[in-house]
Amino acid sequence: MTVNDIPNDVKDLSLADEGQRRTEWAEQFMPVLRQIRERFAAERPLEGKRLSACLHVTTETANLAVTLQAGGADVALCASNPLSTQDDVAAHLVRDHGIKVFAVKGEDKESYYDHIRAALAHRPDVTMDDGADLVGALHMIALGRLDDLEGPVRPWVNAMSPDERSALLKAVIGSTEETTTGVIRLRAMAEQGVLQFPVIAVNDSQTKHLFDNRYGTGQSTVDGILRATNILLAGSTFVVAGYGWCGRGVAMRARGGGAEVIVTEVDPLRALEARMDGYRVMPMADAARVGDVFVTLTGNAEVIRLEHMRLMKDGAIIANSGHFNVELDLEDLAQAADGPRAARQFVDEWLLEGKRLYVLGEGRLINLAAAEGHPASVMDMSFANQALAAEHLVTGGSMLSKAVHRVPVEIDERVAELKLAALGVRIDSLTPAQQQYLASWDAGT
Ligand SMILES: NC(=O)c1ccc[n+]([C@@H]2O[C@H](COP(=O)([O-])OP(=O)(O)OC[C@H]3O[C@@H](n4cnc5c(N)ncnc54)[C@H](O)[C@@H]3O)[C@@H](O)[C@H]2O)c1
Repeated sequence: MTVNDIPNDVKDLSLADEGQRRTEWAEQFMPVLRQIRERFAAERPLEGKRLSACLHVTTETANLAVTLQAGGADVALCASNPLSTQDDVAAHLVRDHGIKVFAVKGEDKESYYDHIRAALAHRPDVTMDDGADLVGALHMIALGRLDDLEGPVRPWVNAMSPDERSALLKAVIGSTEETTTGVIRLRAMAEQGVLQFPVIAVNDSQTKHLFDNRYGTGQSTVDGILRATNILLAGSTFVVAGYGWCGRGVAMRARGGGAEVIVTEVDPLRALEARMDGYRVMPMADAARVGDVFVTLTGNAEVIRLEHMRLMKDGAIIANSGHFNVELDLEDLAQAADGPRAARQFVDEWLLEGKRLYVLGEGRLINLAAAEGHPASVMDMSFANQALAAEHLVTGGSMLSKAVHRVPVEIDERVAELKLAALGVRIDSLTPAQQQYLASWDAGT
């Protein structure tokens, strides 16, 4: 088989050498995934299964895709965000591993959905999502909600018989979901009785969100803002919208860089936590007047609206690191302001009522648009969960109900143990007396 026989849509296959070098660099920091890959190669738990993944096409994802392939899966990969693809990595996966990749950095909405169509045309037994776009499209097809399908998917589905459409969905054993926003959407599907197969919420495992969302997003979001703007953090006023796992990480890293951090929240507990962690907490309408840099990480829509932008200072910088760019009301900004003018790469200048506002990365995940996403060391754990969750679906998915499930606790603990071992960290274990003490109720004061 030559590279020409592999269905793909990538920017330029001649970028593959660079993609290979960078993927090997990331692999060094992914010892847990490497161990899983070795076991998968020996045991082939995914043998003969077609797997379609909709993930950010990065060096870390390349290591996951190769691990799934080592386990016997026939892998197709499309992007989960139009701006997050690393074109050299996409080329490397096609040329050197024969993986079907459909992703080009900066692709428009048409191409984005055409690539989702291509991943579905792979007729997967297992899907892997980051934001639930693949699972969403599959269900629209099966439910006959063709009007809701995005452009390029519709004619493809129209050409299928109803039996073919439902066969597409029935073939799927289950799916895994990488991020908070995807889990929220999938839970809504399950609650409305729409979800037709089990989904494992990789995001909800401890070895994912405690580390990836907090330390990964924390570091890479600040990295993306700095790479896009080259601003000095020290002495700046940095507004973080949302004090969840991601927001905590970003606030922590911005403060570490010398910024004064303001948090905005809608949840009283999270707001209280932010206050006791030492940040100023206030509504966005107040923060808008004083912030130099704004970043949203809420998983919600319309968090920074035109009414807030009108209050901002000349030169304010606005970014989003939540899953979708709907966190910023960019449509209203485009209506009311002049622009955009490209001030730098990934920086659009808008002129709003005499003030310059800078929107980074078109409001898309700034850590992936302007930087390289999370460091490999943290994705090691997230993607170890992904690989083991895929194995769990293939070996035991038929026993799972059509709902959103947690990653089994044994997988979570195993990933933590492997990561600690790789970091050279040893811990104590319970003595028999301690085990007995913890299991008792009658030893009083
Ligand atoms: N950039 C990345 O690489 C990356 C990585 C992981 C997750 N994410 C995405 O980041 C988002 C947040 O994820 P998380 O795990 O921190 O979620 P989370 O649920 O832990 O936190 C979200 C927080 O936002 C708050 N919030 C909701 N609406 C708000 C509003 N209008 N104003 C202020 N705060 C509001 C919620 O109360 C909550 O505390 C999701 O979209 C997730 O998919 C991005």
